[in-house]
Amino acid sequence: MLDIAFAKAALPKSGVLAVPLAEGAPLAGIAQILDSALDGALTRAMEAASFTGKKGQSASLLAPGAGFKRVLLLGLGKETPTPRQAEELGGAAQHALVKETEATILADTLDAALAAHIALGARLRSYKFDKYRTTQKDDDKPKLTEFTLLVAEPAKARAAYTPLAAVAEGVELTRNLVTEPANELYPEEFAKRAEELKKLGVKVEVFDKKDLEKLGFGSLLCVGWGSARDSYMVVMQWLGASGPGEGKKAKKPKDPIAFIGKGVCFDTGGISIKPAAGMEDMKWDMAGAGTVTGLMAALAGRKAKVDAVGLIGLVENMPSGTAIRPGDVVKSYSGQTIEVLNTDAEGRLVLADVLYYAQQRFAPKYMVDLATLTGAIIVGLGHEYAGLFSNNDELSEKLIAAGTKTGEKVWRMPLAPLGEMYDKNIDSPIADVKNIGGGRAGGSITAAQFLQRFVNGKPWAHLDIAGMAWADKDKPTTPKGATAFGVRLLDRLVADNFEA
Ligand code: BES
Ligand code: MN
Ligand code: ZN
Repeated sequence: MLDIAFAKAALPKSGVLAVPLAEGAPLAGIAQILDSALDGALTRAMEAASFTGKKGQSASLLAPGAGFKRVLLLGLGKETPTPRQAEELGGAAQHALVKETEATILADTLDAALAAHIALGARLRSYKFDKYRTTQKDDDKPKLTEFTLLVAEPAKARAAYTPLAAVAEGVELTRNLVTEPANELYPEEFAKRAEELKKLGVKVEVFDKKDLEKLGFGSLLCVGWGSARDSYMVVMQWLGASGPGEGKKAKKPKDPIAFIGKGVCFDTGGISIKPAAGMEDMKWDMAGAGTVTGLMAALAGRKAKVDAVGLIGLVENMPSGTAIRPGDVVKSYSGQTIEVLNTDAEGRLVLADVLYYAQQRFAPKYMVDLATLTGAIIVGLGHEYAGLFSNNDELSEKLIAAGTKTGEKVWRMPLAPLGEMYDKNIDSPIADVKNIGGGRAGGSITAAQFLQRFVNGKPWAHLDIAGMAWADKDKPTTPKGATAFGVRLLDRLVADNFEA
């Protein structure tokens, strides 16, 4: 992991320096002092490399003199960067300098909050999952372990970074969960990992298969019928606004925000089995649950002044002699019966019961679910936006705003009221509802309409993150692999709207 330090601004004596520079502005602060110490080499290099400070531009000077090993110039653009742009700059600096052992970044001309966001970006980009390697080439080992930011007011920057570090820990937890293979992270093991949040002051309850049978979770449970692994639900409560209380005085969350996650630890499709090619991707079909767990860790870690509950449905979708068959009818926790026509449309079956339970038990002000729900959302939106489906305009606007701020963007998609066309599509000839629509048309909408049948009209948003949970390419603050999309988005949603 990358260690972050903040130190009082002064020209270091040696080492590796990253130097963010504004476009079209004269050198200022330590950068200017550095240029003099190098007898104007910085200015000359900028000219030679046509470096103007444009956003995203970079140039590297090797052994420029005065004891420095390397100076990396990074363009900030003309305007004061936003926190998100500062994160991207930090990520770019981390990536460019990953072969160095330590690096110092000059942030003396930026305010403390922006310096903290540079640090967050660097830390998020430095994520690596090496748990299952027994050998590693020296060249592949991360060397950059210490990242120092030189700032005008170190104490202020450190204070600004503390809550961001808690969010980074949440992101790292999510990425670890999502990256784990399904033979290691099955429902029971996932529940155990979620229980570790108790250390942060989160109340964690684990419901096993028997508990869920007693409750009548026929929809969630049918997904796990074919698996050798039992199904679970975990309920996490963070009472940051009302305080947990103790013993008989233990409090209940008041008007909480509820986050619900799809936790399909592996999705073979079941009897409606998926093609072999690419099926390994379905180890990350629990990303919604992974994100809810990381989010709860982030909120608790930074002691957010909010009552929030996180509920995750954990199952494995396997084909076998005990698996659910296409055409079977099950009874959900809500009482509605469901005709399961395609066993690969299993995420919605899991969420149906968890959404209904969340709404019944906690009467949340808002519910937000996250799920790698449909391949169709990737066809529609690619890997730029998560699909947002909601029965509530206010919540939708808050989510869109949080997405713009964090770079975890969401795009609103259609959702019809009950009884209208998109909804009628999932009426079943023999039960209350069927789990797929007529054909492939509008597949992500059909899935969202199905979920809507289980929210009882309460304010709710569904995020289809199938295109966002895993990345095949590096991004500024996300190395390729598990992204933890949604942790920062929903942390921001809470911070901007729901904290006392
Ligand atoms: N987990 C998949 C969706 C998915 C696909 C996530 C690709 C990430 C990448 C989901 O359970 C599924 O199989 N959906 C089906 C629904 C269909 C049977 C109506 C799909 O998208 O094909
Ligand atoms: Mn599926
Ligand atoms: Zn799935």
